[in-house]
Amino acid sequence: MKSLNTQGARILATGSAVPELCVNNFKISEMVETSDDWIVTRTGIKERRVLTGINKSVVDLASLASIRALNKISMDPLEIDLIILATSSPNDLFGSASQVQAKIGANKAVAFDLTAACSGFVLGIVTGAQFIQNGSYKNILVIGADVLSKWTDWSDRSTCILFGDGAGAVIIQSCSIEKNGILGFQLNTDGEKSDQLSIPYRNKEKNQTISICKGEFDFIQMNGKEVYKFAVSKVPLSILTCLHSLCISPKDISWLLLHQANERILYAVAERLSIHSSKLISNLHKYGNTSAASIPLALDEALKNKRIKDNDLIVISGFGAGLTWGTVVIKWKC
Ligand code: UT7
Repeated sequence: MKSLNTQGARILATGSAVPELCVNNFKISEMVETSDDWIVTRTGIKERRVLTGINKSVVDLASLASIRALNKISMDPLEIDLIILATSSPNDLFGSASQVQAKIGANKAVAFDLTAACSGFVLGIVTGAQFIQNGSYKNILVIGADVLSKWTDWSDRSTCILFGDGAGAVIIQSCSIEKNGILGFQLNTDGEKSDQLSIPYRNKEKNQTISICKGEFDFIQMNGKEVYKFAVSKVPLSILTCLHSLCISPKDISWLLLHQANERILYAVAERLSIHSSKLISNLHKYGNTSAASIPLALDEALKNKRIKDNDLIVISGFGAGLTWGTVVIKWKC
């Protein structure tokens, strides 16, 4: 969808954080029947980070990533108007964004969680941009953070090889329309397929007096093949629709930054768009699939490595549980 606003929004700074513990494929192959060769060939993943420590949660990673982003531009946390925490692994079902607000001292910011699994960061950026482009807020912190290791069945080889923990944060600031860097977006949901990838809540017992069922959340359930097919077919369409609405051709794209789910998905989407693989931003060999964190984590790394230059066009797409998928096109402004 093309923005019709008169106020611009641009990403001012990024930050990221990953846990210290690195679990490589060889370690995983001591836990389940798999091999480094199988995991690398089928996914491109070599290792992932896992959060340890009884009192550690997504809030710690999200806060550290946020502080790193703030420090890069010497911004006082009190200047933040809104915090959007995209996560599917909060440490409180009522939301964790307020804990991040308190931990980083952004006491003037409104804070809320956004749950959209691996599309969460894209939805977070789009949501944040609306508040800026309609003139409501000036500085917005958007965080993608997940600790799916807590929801992974470590005896299920079809899922435990994929996921890792991490957080990435961006600060979006209002600017003149000429400097607008968030050009447009395209978002989708298909709830009919929600059972293809989920952390379902299962009812266990019933209170006979008032018929209330009590239960608990299960581990991650995924139909890998179907999710793979969904990503490879729907993501290119989303990107093409978004680019078309902005009158941009895929050949004009500087970087393709997709949710880091599987290297084969990244290559397949690039191929369908005739975008050369050298334009793919990928770091999933080091971190696996970090869900809402994967895009900002890879963005922060690409910026640290000075790959992204002023005025580069970055196509960002997220996809995952819901099923949800979506694209946001960014023109990088230094
Ligand atoms: O963030 C949300 C988005 N999520 C995704 O994008 C995930 C998308 N799906 C995928 O990435 C892939 O489907 C997987 C990596 C999860 C699986 O790869 P695949 O090529 O679809 O493998 P498969 O499930 O078809 O399994 C092929 C074979 C099976 O054996 P048989 O039936 O051919 O004898 C599996 O039992 O590989 C076996 N297998 C494994 N073998 C060794 C499944 N998992 C493993 C494993 N190690 N970890």
